Amino acid sequence: MGEPILLTTWPFGDAANRAAWPALEAGGSSLDAVEAVCAHVDDDESVHTVGYGGLPDRDGAVSLDGCVMQSPARVGSVCAVRRHAHPVTLARRVMEETPHVMLAGPGADGFGDACGFAPVELLAPEARARWERRAPSRSHDTVCCLALDRAGVLSGGCSSSGAAYKLPGRVGDSPIPGHGLYVDPAHGGAAATGNGELVMGLCSSFLAVEEMRSGANPLAALLEALERIQAAHELAEDDQVAMVALAPDGRHASAALRKGYATAVLRPGSGGVVEPDAILLDE
Ligand code: GLY
Repeated sequence: MGEPILLTTWPFGDAANRAAWPALEAGGSSLDAVEAVCAHVDDDESVHTVGYGGLPDRDGAVSLDGCVMQSPARVGSVCAVRRHAHPVTLARRVMEETPHVMLAGPGADGFGDACGFAPVELLAPEARARWERRAPSRSHDTVCCLALDRAGVLSGGCSSSGAAYKLPGRVGDSPIPGHGLYVDPAHGGAAATGNGELVMGLCSSFLAVEEMRSGANPLAALLEALERIQAAHELAEDDQVAMVALAPDGRHASAALRKGYATAVLRPGSGGVVEPDAILLDE
């Protein structure tokens, strides 16, 4: 029996980790844990980049993306969901109950209806007020959770409302396996948060896991992925990408392009919000 661990992006992941922890610590599955962590953040109206409370697109409609992954053969995803609040739960159902990997837009919402999930209005009052006055927001603070359970099974999940005021139809990195999330049970998992447009051309999560497959430790793998982002893009001053990685033996790391990012970590006997192990651009 190994030690369980939860590695979740951003300080808002701390409360979500703590809510999911008792079941994981008692021997629950890492898949249940990542679903619970992401749903907890989805339901936090104060988080304007994930789930209910997320900022809408240019036209005032919220659309959610999410992915869950345990291996290249066990992955599910939904994007552009407009009537259901928990994209990772939907993505898990896609993985477990359909022959497909990804459902999009009305098809994903219709699938949620068919699963028996009650539709909800995703635009929260405060998010609507921010949209009406176009309150500045450049953050894409996806919740990404990597978890290891006592049986040694690794799972990853991520959930995002995408870029604030995006063009209708825009989908980011989060629901696309290999971009916002990738898990290989033999070599590890990685996930990205931040500006998805910077991540998508580089398959950054896949790249980080491939680095681990080649022998890199989790931090070196993340730095390679972030350096590739830096090399490929003319970065704006406020462009941010942060990544987390978890190896099957529990070694883990987080790294960011810039200051301002932190990771919520929980393992037996210790937990809390920690600074990234490396920040690429020392401002
Ligand atoms: N990383 C979330 C997004 O850009 O959509």
